Amino acid sequence: RTVYVNGEYLPEDQAKVSIFDRGFLMADGVYEVTSVLDGKLIAFDGHAERLTRSMNELDMRAPATTEELLEIHRELVRLNEIKDGLIYLQVTRGSDGDRDFAFPDPETTAPSLVLFTQSKPGLADNPAARDGIRVISIEDIRWGRRDIKTVQLLYPSMGKMMAKKAGVEDAWMVEDGFVTEGTSNNAYIVKDGKIVTRETSSDILHGITRKAVLELAREAQMQVEERNFTIEEAQQADEAFVTSASAFVTPVVEIDGAKIGGGAPGKLAPRLREIYLEEMR
Ligand code: PDD
Repeated sequence: RTVYVNGEYLPEDQAKVSIFDRGFLMADGVYEVTSVLDGKLIAFDGHAERLTRSMNELDMRAPATTEELLEIHRELVRLNEIKDGLIYLQVTRGSDGDRDFAFPDPETTAPSLVLFTQSKPGLADNPAARDGIRVISIEDIRWGRRDIKTVQLLYPSMGKMMAKKAGVEDAWMVEDGFVTEGTSNNAYIVKDGKIVTRETSSDILHGITRKAVLELAREAQMQVEERNFTIEEAQQADEAFVTSASAFVTPVVEIDGAKIGGGAPGKLAPRLREIYLEEMR
């Protein structure tokens, strides 16, 4: 696989970043994951926009323009012959060769930019889309700026492991009694034809897929309500689903052991997935 690191396209085993990079020492970095279907980038502009926002919120210097990032994405798709898959992009603050809590001077310390591809044949027709996934609920103990897409992913990783240990696919996080989001996706329920999802704030990541899916849902005359919901309400819902760049729209069929809609995907979530994929492809 050919990867990109700070201006160069290299074989993956030759790509290097300093051990003093604050991304490595302090999780001082932000990232984006963009999917590729049939060689085409999905929602690149949204991901680039959110990356800029994440960097601005953390006073990070942009390592490249959006046009340059688009070019790198395209080049990696080409070099690695990606048909279906993901492109991972990470910007870290770099380093001035020492460890210090205070940020180094951005004038003299360049951020690091790394991108790599993950080939995922059949990404859009994964069995989870047909069968749905099961989730458990866990307490959301992440930091308070979940709207910034940082590489500080230890708790979501632990959440995935808790889900695995419980024999299910993912976890929904709960704060003050209300669902925030999934470990790596936004969470929704459907009751009497109405889609309910938490509104955006610093409590959740502002999903690029979320934005597109809600727009398409409204265009298709589906009702959307942005408000908090509890696990109990979710367990009583007709349907539940998650969205993300890699999962698109994926039905959720069980929450903490309670089956949703009889334990099989309903009508709305699969329809929304179809609409989304048709629009984005
Ligand atoms: N995760 N919420 C969280 C906590 C996420 O990590 C993600 C994305 C989302 C969905 O955002 P989007 O629709 O823009 O992908 C919501 C990516 C896919 C990841 O970490 O791999």
